[in-house]
Amino acid sequence: MTICYTIESFNKALSSLPTNCKVGFVPTMGALHQGHISLVQKAKEFTNQVVVSIFVNPNQFNNSNDLANYPRTIQEDCKKLETEKVSIVFIPSVEEIYPKKDNRTFDLAGLDSTGEGPSRPGHFNGVVQVVSRLFNIVKPSFAFFGEKDFQQLAIIKHITKKLNYPVEIVACPTKREKDGVAMSSRNMLLTPQQRAATPIIYQSLAKAAEMVSAQNLFSPRELSIWVTSQINKEPLLTTEYVQIVDSNSLQPIESWEQHNNIQLCTAVKAGSVRLIDNIKLK
Ligand code: PAF
Repeated sequence: MTICYTIESFNKALSSLPTNCKVGFVPTMGALHQGHISLVQKAKEFTNQVVVSIFVNPNQFNNSNDLANYPRTIQEDCKKLETEKVSIVFIPSVEEIYPKKDNRTFDLAGLDSTGEGPSRPGHFNGVVQVVSRLFNIVKPSFAFFGEKDFQQLAIIKHITKKLNYPVEIVACPTKREKDGVAMSSRNMLLTPQQRAATPIIYQSLAKAAEMVSAQNLFSPRELSIWVTSQINKEPLLTTEYVQIVDSNSLQPIESWEQHNNIQLCTAVKAGSVRLIDNIKLK
């Protein structure tokens, strides 16, 4: 496994991979957990040449405390990636990715107008800035993104198509702890009490999915109110939003019948830690 800190050394490592090989790319911000490892393992099903980047992208943080507190565990991360037999790990500096300020703004076709968008202004534009920079550098054939970041995945699919990147975006299922909690680097920022409170999030989502498949009498609006009240029963948690959206447009829906694919998405705060999760309802 080659570890590269600069674009120059990355290009050298890339050119020493077998000629015409297809690269599978897993972009990350580090603090790797089993969820990231499952992306690497999925990439391995597509190609032997897997590249992982570790870069805490300042442009996608709209809160400087959040950026400062984001967990950084580079040494452990590299050990895990070595075990997975990754070909190249790319760990660039901020100057390497953004030699000058990135002023590009992308048309996200309204996919950022719901969910995380209003709560984190500029976040998805920052994600797209870094992903496009990384795609230009890594030149992957496939890139792997988790369904836990459902809205991010939809936005990346949209922009890959729009900017004509010859990259296949592969969606990978959310990995969960035994108690159902979605794996996230942010989980390590929770106190033991907060962590003990979090299973209610997925329990409520799973119950909502069960209710929809049993054709309960709740409208989408009523169901999102119900899920909110279930999660908020836990004193250490506060929901920021619970939205039931069309899986393609990400716009809130009014009725079950008019949409073929429906997702329930939520953001919940435990103290200053923000957790997101989602579930397919239809
Ligand atoms: O999902 C993440 O970890 C980040 O948003 C990504 C895609 C690596 C871009 O910084």
